Amino acid sequence: MIYDPYSRTMQEDPYPTYQWFRDESPCAYNEKMDFYALFRFEDVWEATLDWETYSSSLGPMLENRGQIPSEMFSIIGLDPPAHTRFRNLVSRGFTPRRIGALEREMREIARRYLDALSDRSEFDIQHEFSVKLPMDVISALLGIPPEYRDRYRRWVDGGLERDPDTGLPSEEGISGMRQARDLILDLLAQRRAAPQEDLISLLANADLEEPDQPPRRLTDAEVVGFCGLLAAAGAETTAKLIGNAVVYLGRDPAQRKRLFDDPSRIPLGVEELLRYDAPSQFQGRVAMRDVTVAGVTIPKGARVALVTGAACRDEREFEDPDRLDLARHTKREIYFGYGQHFCIGKSLARLEARIALEEIATRFPNYEVDESGLARTYQAHVRGFKNVPIRV
Ligand code: HEM
Repeated sequence: MIYDPYSRTMQEDPYPTYQWFRDESPCAYNEKMDFYALFRFEDVWEATLDWETYSSSLGPMLENRGQIPSEMFSIIGLDPPAHTRFRNLVSRGFTPRRIGALEREMREIARRYLDALSDRSEFDIQHEFSVKLPMDVISALLGIPPEYRDRYRRWVDGGLERDPDTGLPSEEGISGMRQARDLILDLLAQRRAAPQEDLISLLANADLEEPDQPPRRLTDAEVVGFCGLLAAAGAETTAKLIGNAVVYLGRDPAQRKRLFDDPSRIPLGVEELLRYDAPSQFQGRVAMRDVTVAGVTIPKGARVALVTGAACRDEREFEDPDRLDLARHTKREIYFGYGQHFCIGKSLARLEARIALEEIATRFPNYEVDESGLARTYQAHVRGFKNVPIRV
């Protein structure tokens, strides 16, 4: 069997294939795409901790074999110590105080989109709500003016799409990424001149400490790279989480009722939804030395996929892993990554998902998913729905 993360079968339902690989070939080589993949929880967990063996320096996408182009510079493609310095700096934009300060605005955004649907009995909640909320929240965090937010989301979205046959982004997608970059550059110039209370201002004016060098400001490419990463890593994943939540709760009205009747259960339920169908299915690495996993030697220089989506369903770690149990407590979580690169936006994502579900619960507690209209996106490593039509 071959693990091709971009194939339609895998995009539709990867879980039977993952199970086969966990049992039969936990460290597998894809000859055509020339990369190795790890599927078991323990192996993925260990690899995320061992950055000296599994480097992030070629970025999260498996296609990249050479240097990351400068406009794609971002924290996710760095190793310590450069990673640690950059991460310490940008973490200041994600403190509990800063995230907490966004809660009211987040709820207002969620309410505005959902209230606009109140006189309709059928709509596509993914399209009307789940993709809009996270991107608006990131835009608010960054300081992107409201009138640009829709466009910015479309540009970023298009850049993430992959042709299932070639695995490549389209011309239009590439051009969208360029337009998104130009917008950030404009805002950056404005914020360098007149800082505001937003993340672009923080990045524009923060000092990066490097050994034996005087502190320096981030370059335009560094700020653009980081903002691009936030949009790519934070918006699509959270949108998929909300869409998955709507679909899987819709399929299990009894569990949904328990959650909606007692919203204090929502945070734990969100964790289980993340485990059950991880929005980010694999993380790319490159082997810095020969390393043997489950009897297979990955040669130095090979690309490696840490398949978190498969790890989240590993029965060696989770009891009855294919069952969605919204009251499940787990010892370890891997869906936000682990080690140096664990998701910097996880508190934000959790808060958004909680707010989204609370607001859906008060308006449409008994919605029904129109299963025949469900459609998935075909994206690099983000898994989830493009269309989620519901009746309320
Ligand atoms: C459900 C939502 C989300 C999921 C499932 C998710 C998942 C992940 C995962 C698995 C990683 C680790 C990547 C690696 O090891 O190479 C990661 C890193 C990252 N995430 Fe998220 N993420 C989510 C939401 C967000 C949000 C809302 C933001 C920001 C607004 C964000 C920003 C980032 C950044 C900047 C990194 C790179 C951190 C580093 O390299 O140090 N993510 N995320």
